[in-house]
Amino acid sequence: MATTSELRRWEELFARRTRGEVGEGIAFVLGFLGRPDLISFAGGFPDPLTFPRERASALLAEFAETGEAAAFQYAPTRGLPGTLDALAGRLEAVQGRRPADDELLITSGGIEALELLCKTFLDPGDAVVVEAPTYLGALMAFRGYEAEIVAVPLDDEGLQVDELERVLAAGLRPKLLYTIPDHQNPAGVSLSPERRERLVELARRYGFLVVEDVAYRELRFEGEWPPSLWSTAPDVVAQAGTTSKTFLPGVRLGWTAAPAEVAAQLVNAKQNTDQCAGALGQRMLEEYIQRGWIEEQLPLSRALYKRKCERLLAALERAMPAGVTWTHAEGGFFSWLTVPGADATALAEIAAQCGVGIVPGALFYPDGRGRENVRLSFSMVDESLIDDGVERLASLLA
Ligand SMILES: Cc1ncc(COP(=O)(O)O)c(C=O)c1O
Repeated sequence: MATTSELRRWEELFARRTRGEVGEGIAFVLGFLGRPDLISFAGGFPDPLTFPRERASALLAEFAETGEAAAFQYAPTRGLPGTLDALAGRLEAVQGRRPADDELLITSGGIEALELLCKTFLDPGDAVVVEAPTYLGALMAFRGYEAEIVAVPLDDEGLQVDELERVLAAGLRPKLLYTIPDHQNPAGVSLSPERRERLVELARRYGFLVVEDVAYRELRFEGEWPPSLWSTAPDVVAQAGTTSKTFLPGVRLGWTAAPAEVAAQLVNAKQNTDQCAGALGQRMLEEYIQRGWIEEQLPLSRALYKRKCERLLAALERAMPAGVTWTHAEGGFFSWLTVPGADATALAEIAAQCGVGIVPGALFYPDGRGRENVRLSFSMVDESLIDDGVERLASLLA
């Protein structure tokens, strides 16, 4: 065990950008996963029931038997040509626009896409607009590059574009605006079609890049999707995608579709992060898409998450005391609670003692707001434990 003075010695050597809160938030969430006794609404992890275990294992055996080298070799930094082609085809099928060859790259997860965008665009003190609340991993990435994070609130229709327009008109000149337009993490809300149009118009007028994170887009429970920002405005949008919620987080794969000049810079930046995303996962993903397996799995995954979400919302309706409110997700993994007067950080600690894992809202704000909010994730909790978990939480609030 390191002594306190040893720890202090290393802390003095750490870079400024790694000090403070940069890494603590996710560690807090992951800490819950080590406790099997907990009914956990904490981590936004996919349900392992959605993992295509047999198909994954069949593909690995096939690669080995046919003596394929590409799956086991280094890959080009931009990605394997076959995987890029499969992804481009899928974007065309589900979003109505095929990226040109120089507009697409494969990343090691959605998080790496954010890291590369930060590395490419941000000098210390540069302004980045986020919606408040927003994804903790993105806040950590922006903090890690010492950005000035400006939070614009969201409501049931997503980012408040009126408010964004107001801060832009008042003189703010961000380089990036980060948004999760579909089934947002943590709030579970989606950006309305009308606001999508206005956001793109503001990006063109004020000259910033919209970073569109589509982590939960394909997990809409039912009905039509509004168009993605990237498909309607590829000149001002970089789309960061992940296959973690629709394939396997274990392969750590995502993509970025962006204007060609931006994509080229991201590929440069990637050369000295990991040089290339893992080829084995890329080959698996390529086959998973090309054989139509992803289209077979997605309806099953959507149905599972819809059922879990409905169960959570029904339990909240039954059990929560008057005054507590929550969002009604139409996809994704999350519902966002507002508990007037609460200190959600203290609540999370007491809830853990009572066997329930929740995430306090303040982690999703850059500025200490969110004290009265709690994120509940329904994605990984065992369906049969949802009612019990909500009842325990409600009895703490009552
Ligand atoms: C909004 C959002 N973006 C990105 C990610 C990260 O994705 P990946 O696992 O591909 O790094 C997550 C994961 O929880 C997320 O919620």
